[in-house]
Amino acid sequence: MKDFSANINKTILTGIQPSGVITLGNYIGAIKQMVKMQDEFKSYLFIADMHAITVGQDPLQLHENIRSLVALYLACGIDPNKNIIFIQSENEYHANISWLLECNTPFGVLSRMTQFKDKSSKNVNFYAGLFTYPVLMAADILAYDVDYVPVGIDQKQHVELARNIAEHFNKKYGKTFKIPDVYITKEGTKIMDLVDPTKKMSKSSKNPKGIIHLLDDPKEIRKKIMGATTDSECEIKFDLEKKPGISNLINICVALTGKDIKDIEQEFQGKNYGEFKKFVADLVLEEMEGIQKRYNDLIHSHVLDEILDENIKITREIAKKKFMLMKEKMGLYR
Ligand code: TYM
Repeated sequence: MKDFSANINKTILTGIQPSGVITLGNYIGAIKQMVKMQDEFKSYLFIADMHAITVGQDPLQLHENIRSLVALYLACGIDPNKNIIFIQSENEYHANISWLLECNTPFGVLSRMTQFKDKSSKNVNFYAGLFTYPVLMAADILAYDVDYVPVGIDQKQHVELARNIAEHFNKKYGKTFKIPDVYITKEGTKIMDLVDPTKKMSKSSKNPKGIIHLLDDPKEIRKKIMGATTDSECEIKFDLEKKPGISNLINICVALTGKDIKDIEQEFQGKNYGEFKKFVADLVLEEMEGIQKRYNDLIHSHVLDEILDENIKITREIAKKKFMLMKEKMGLYR
């Protein structure tokens, strides 16, 4: 069993979809934050595989991605003794809770979710799950009485929805859920695509040159960073509007070094873009090489299964309690 010392009384939770090898954006936006917070919080980290199937997935590939993501969590520094790592679909109470929440979430509110509007506009034949996805995310969070949800800014609206759903439910049926807060670090806010720095770096992006996957070949990673889109000036200065490419590279540096934007700007005053890109590439490679080595050692290890087997029992018990409480509040009993 986990040993959470008595002074750790705040809980954090986050999840990542296994819809491909995760990106530098996921690493900076979510995993790195969890690594930083794992000593101070009771922490849940899961594989959001039921979210991944809201868009089409190849079953065999999905199966492989799930295990791979567990290994990557550990390789990135997530300590299995300090985090409850689990697979969402192995805990059926997430879906059960989600249904009860769906029956308490207005259709109009879900229609206004920006990610839904964006994704559904790209494919008119989308599935109903894409629409109800934010409610499943609320269930993931609310099942565990979470205090903070560390995510990248693209998920902020969904966490706010979880808050609203919880508030509404508490008001209607009496106190049932803790109200969660979103937690976004300034440097992790949003890592952008290297080719089109006005777009989020995303696992599902069509152009592989714009994305750094955590398991990319080191040579490829260097090539992608050296080829990142910048601008026609030659000043290393943070300006999201006028210099989105350089600002994105500065953001990556800030996230990986812990330095301020101003420090980076000063360090590279008078230097050219090539020198700066080389510095960013070295930085990213140093971080990725360690992760890849640890990943290769872990991927076939039975340790992964032991961790998952132990943790699913813990999470099922907690989520079941919440589900039973909700049923009682809603009159779903004999
Ligand atoms: P997903 O899988 O799209 O992304 C996982 C996490 O990575 C962050 N992220 C980024 N951060 C910075 N820059 C980027 N370019 C970037 N791309 C992704 C995301 O903000 C996220 O934190 N619905 C969620 C998974 C989920 C979840 C949850 C998260 C399901 N249930 C409950 C928190 C709590 C998702 O699709 O994340």
